[in-house]
Amino acid sequence: MRVICPGSFDPVTHGHLDIVRRAVTLFDEVVVAVGRNSAKNYLFTPDERVAMLSEACAEWPSVRVLGFEGLLVDVCRQQGCAAIVKGLRFPGDFEFELQMAQMNHALTGIETVLLPTAARWAHLSSTMIREVARFGGDVSSFVPEAVLERIRAKMALGPQTKERT
Ligand code: PNS
Repeated sequence: MRVICPGSFDPVTHGHLDIVRRAVTLFDEVVVAVGRNSAKNYLFTPDERVAMLSEACAEWPSVRVLGFEGLLVDVCRQQGCAAIVKGLRFPGDFEFELQMAQMNHALTGIETVLLPTAARWAHLSSTMIREVARFGGDVSSFVPEAVLERIRAKMALGPQTKERT
């Protein structure tokens, strides 16, 4: 079965990668789809987010990374994905994920599989990592080394590099 792991991945964290790794063990093929949440301002461009994920997922031959615009259900159809896989960090995540899963199911009948995030990564969010990094905090234990380098480079360039949506 081919599934899709969607997200903003701004930037990709060890928590995201744990979900992708587990999806790899459960399903034949995994499409990691870098999308846009219209409620968010992004630090990294879509191309940068796809590049970071492609590097981070390079060790898994059954994973393909792509960027998308528009509705997730349309990408699922185009890519032949039978289900959406997402991580749940804490109860607060469930409320929003349930609503999205129900909307996506109502649109095309696609199923969503929610995997509990590993406890060691449950406190991670890309938003917090951006915040900590912006004020000079150490985020090295939360993201892959290559992502850390990109965060440092982005911070050195200053806030004018922020992608506005
Ligand atoms: O990591 P995020 O920010 O929670 O990812 C959210 C994302 C990009 C996966 C989600 O916003 C999404 O699927 N956007 C595409 C538009 C869409 O299909 N929205 C869901 C219908 S309710």
